[in-house]
Amino acid sequence: MARTAVITGASSGLGAEFARQLGARGADLVLVARDGVALDSVAASVRAEHGVSVEVLVADLLDAQGLAAVEERLAAGGIDVLVNNAGFGLDLGFEQNDVDAEVRHLRLHVEAAMRLMRAALPAMLARGSGRIINVASVAGFVPRGTYGAAKGWLISFSRWANVVYRPRGVTVTAVCPGFVHTSFHERLGLAPGEEGVAPGLWLDAAVVVREGLRDAARGRSVSIPSWRYKLLVAGSRLLTDAVVVRAAGRGR
Ligand SMILES: NC(=O)c1ccc[n+]([C@@H]2O[C@H](COP(=O)([O-])OP(=O)(O)OC[C@H]3O[C@@H](n4cnc5c(N)ncnc54)[C@H](OP(=O)(O)O)[C@@H]3O)[C@@H](O)[C@H]2O)c1
Repeated sequence: MARTAVITGASSGLGAEFARQLGARGADLVLVARDGVALDSVAASVRAEHGVSVEVLVADLLDAQGLAAVEERLAAGGIDVLVNNAGFGLDLGFEQNDVDAEVRHLRLHVEAAMRLMRAALPAMLARGSGRIINVASVAGFVPRGTYGAAKGWLISFSRWANVVYRPRGVTVTAVCPGFVHTSFHERLGLAPGEEGVAPGLWLDAAVVVREGLRDAARGRSVSIPSWRYKLLVAGSRLLTDAVVVRAAGRGR
């Protein structure tokens, strides 16, 4: 499928799983995150298992130089797939969070993803082929604080961009998982079991990435992995905001 893929947030969780599954499909990889040791470990295991070339690009996407380094790598061309996956959650309510933490959260989910797409697109369009995957969330379909709002931006933009760029050979897909076992909740300071998520609502990263890659290959604008979450998103459209906010607010 892919020749060279750039994956942000590849040092753990969904990003590392994208690296494993794209590597298994024969793609060479450029892995981006801040933790160089963790990236090296993902890179070494993908190289050993799949024999593909893996480059590690240590960069903080919230730092102007780090973001510019990834933009330059994308603008130089030769990139077939961009996976905008890096992200994090905030642990308190909007009115309690440090406003600078909110700005970093918005910039990573929206500004960094937007700049990287803008950097990658010209070369992809000139070649007439490319695949962009934006890791959003089912939270982007429901009112769920600034996290849901930021993921909603990614979903809305991907839907527009896929209509406009797909006829020119470049697909744009928002992959929208529900709760997934990764480092995401641990980084929020939550121990296993403290997330307030019903056991049946957890998804495996491998399933999310497999379904996301399949939907991207089919040229879909939106991928919601698993029937459970497809039904929950469809059902949420029939309910009032007050009911959805209460239900969605249970999990962290
Ligand atoms: N887990 C879930 O339940 C869930 C559900 C829906 C959507 N998502 C989304 O899935 C994506 C991946 O999250 P995950 O669940 O796999 O969590 P994770 O295991 O915590 O991975 C987050 C990744 O983002 C990277 N990252 C964070 N800040 C960064 C920065 N400033 N610059 C560069 N990289 C940065 C981290 O790497 P470093 O720390 O090494 O920089 C890490 O590789 C996120 O966008 C998240 O919102 C997660």
